[in-house]
Amino acid sequence: MGKAGGHCRLLAWSAASLMAAWATAAPAQPAADPAIEARIDALLARMTLPHKIAQLIQPDISTITPDDMRRYRFGSYLNGGNSGPGGNDKAPPAAWLALADAMWDASSAPLPDGEPAIPAIWGTDAVHGHNNITGATLFPHNVALGAADDPALMRRIGAATAAEIAVTGIDWAFAPTLAVARDTRWGRSYESLSEDPARVARLGAPMVEGLQGVPGTPGWLDQHHVIATLKHFFGDGGTGGIDRGDTTGPLAELERVHLAPYPPAIAAGAQTVMASFSSINGAKMHGNRALLTGVLRDRLHFDGLVVGDWNGHGLVPGCTNTDCAPALLAGLDVFMVPEDWRGLYATTLREAQDGTIPLARIDQAVRRVLRVKLRYGLFDKPRPAQRALAGQWDQLGSPDHRALAREAVRKSLVLLKNDGVLPLRATARVLVAGRGADDIARQSGGWTISWQGGGTLTKADFPGATSLYAGLAEALKAAGGTAELSPDGRFATRPDAAVVVFGEAPYAEYAGDSPDHALHDGEGLALLRKLHAAHVPTVAVLLSGRPLWTARELALADAFVAAWLPGSEGEGLADVLVGDAAARPRFDFTGRLAFHWPATCRDDAPPAYALGAGGSYAAPPHVPALVPVCAAPATTATTVLFRRVLGDDVVVSVRATAADPPQALPALVGNDAAGVVNVSTFDARAQEDGRRIEWRKAGLVSFALPRALPAKGHALVIEYQADPGSAGPIRVGADCAGCRITRVLPPAPGRAPLRIPLACLGPARVTGVRFSAPGAAVLRLISATIVTTHGARACSAGH
Ligand code: BGC
Ligand code: BGC
Repeated sequence: MGKAGGHCRLLAWSAASLMAAWATAAPAQPAADPAIEARIDALLARMTLPHKIAQLIQPDISTITPDDMRRYRFGSYLNGGNSGPGGNDKAPPAAWLALADAMWDASSAPLPDGEPAIPAIWGTDAVHGHNNITGATLFPHNVALGAADDPALMRRIGAATAAEIAVTGIDWAFAPTLAVARDTRWGRSYESLSEDPARVARLGAPMVEGLQGVPGTPGWLDQHHVIATLKHFFGDGGTGGIDRGDTTGPLAELERVHLAPYPPAIAAGAQTVMASFSSINGAKMHGNRALLTGVLRDRLHFDGLVVGDWNGHGLVPGCTNTDCAPALLAGLDVFMVPEDWRGLYATTLREAQDGTIPLARIDQAVRRVLRVKLRYGLFDKPRPAQRALAGQWDQLGSPDHRALAREAVRKSLVLLKNDGVLPLRATARVLVAGRGADDIARQSGGWTISWQGGGTLTKADFPGATSLYAGLAEALKAAGGTAELSPDGRFATRPDAAVVVFGEAPYAEYAGDSPDHALHDGEGLALLRKLHAAHVPTVAVLLSGRPLWTARELALADAFVAAWLPGSEGEGLADVLVGDAAARPRFDFTGRLAFHWPATCRDDAPPAYALGAGGSYAAPPHVPALVPVCAAPATTATTVLFRRVLGDDVVVSVRATAADPPQALPALVGNDAAGVVNVSTFDARAQEDGRRIEWRKAGLVSFALPRALPAKGHALVIEYQADPGSAGPIRVGADCAGCRITRVLPPAPGRAPLRIPLACLGPARVTGVRFSAPGAAVLRLISATIVTTHGARACSAGH
């Protein structure tokens, strides 16, 4: 923390009063029900140790089959962001329900010797609607819901999401995220509701009630509801913008900010809590007994289960993915161990047998799992496909749910500038430009069908969804106006006004971490410049997972709207932007910033707009004067082609020969249309941070740079791994027509990354870099960057 002192103090104060309110009255978690506890006692008495351990292990559906389930009897399982039934991320909803049934049957098949069979529960990241499922309603991400700041809306979204999850037979949502993101360079800022703990507290609890129902009422955890998860406990938003980082400071202060949303959400009945990947003052949360047990259990009286995050236990010092008694001893109840469950199961069983883990601790963890299952009524619920909402496919993306999402979009828009171009007259001729205008994947962000979102997703993956452009077109057409889609901003007839939809491309987790607050969308900026020069009144609509330094865009546009990541219902934007035929508003702006807006791109930026800012038609916002240059630390000396994700504005294309037309390969994953390569992800240093590029036949993979660089003074730096399947040879060269010189990559990389001065590759100015192979070959790429070199080092024979 430590930025913008005054305003942080204010937040701390409001959180402090909140903490005071619950410190006296401990949260009212539904009191232990003696009947349930007695049932647990009876179950525990009849369970074998191996089956108790299995209750504590949560594998991913990409690595277990129903047969594995029948054999081991896991307590739960998940689908990670990239997993779908049968290995298909885009499997139809019926395939999800069928898998739920198969796992149910396997886990509840009778066991010998009267041992109770305990049905498994399925957890999924439904973080903005049931977002792994094609056709589901995609609600705005939390960053937007924080701006809407409407507790009742949260409850309704939670209930709609629960219903859509229940349609597919899934039991458990890994939501809501209660992170209080204090540095929006963090790639998960969009999963955070606000930098203000009081606002997160106010909105998190009703989301829990929406997902689970309200404790003490008949609907609680019934067949229309699912189990909720508070995540990531705790301090995930305090790591200085670094995903999985360290949150530091006096504990009392950290609790005032980052723990504050938990008591009300626990009081709302939340049944599960997920431990954070991050650390507090250097200690990894997954092994943190003082906080997982001391604070969460003893002080907050949470009595549900604590689940780990994706191999989070393996990050605890002394642990691996397959061996981590310290996490259990610290208070973790369920290991999320997507792939390495066999090993972890075997070691944990052995450690329970040899006394490393006391049996009482195992029983306590199993008790919590069973308590959640009994409260959820699992033993009385029918097979997933027979439950109340199961298979009601028309509930997925139902008109009611879509209308609710549209309302949420409307309420979350924040107006940062309006010189009078808004509202658009409904009879106007409007040009709609920008990469984000007609792209549902882009407007939905990460955690959308796939983990990272974007990439290879197309309109076909979003049946029933409406793009921002389509929403505008519909509203204008209805009143006699027109919307012309023109991604590059060109127009034949002069429009009355333009809407430019620009901003960030989707990302998830660390792939979205940024060294500064700069927006890297040169194309959007160029469009705004062009329309400004042409004197077209222009509305800038920013799609982003966070506030960003947008001084230049704010200055160029006549109106500026932060639209966040609105999801599948683009009409919500048109509702507010398009007025009636007399240009009177139909809906006003009511969204208010849930995070301050940075005045510069530096990490210590003072606010340009404070928390809570946002204008309306009645009260247009005051636009501050901002410095139009980004004096960021020297990270700009590097041009990233690929590092975890493609560099900003880098475009990848594939060809069989230099003479063929290039085939785009968005996000550097999947197959090109000409069948030259197949690209998949692999784990180099973190999940899915590498790309395995497999040539099926001869061809070239080109990375076009956003702008040409002089060869002199620059070098290409490549990190890669040896691949046993690689024939070869793979060559690297500059991507230009007459370029003669290429270099062969050594099959096994050296210890240091390979460094090739660009001057060695031929042209004086380099517009791109290409990798080529004469036939079958594999390159396991970890990163490719262009760095500035000091001193004009000549291209020697050694290079
Ligand atoms: C999974 C995600 C998970 C991530 C962890 C991915 O492979 O699909 O669900 O969150 O790894 O880093
Ligand atoms: C994320 C969690 C998510 C889990 C399962 C992790 O990488 O941090 O938020 O619930 O994966 O996909």
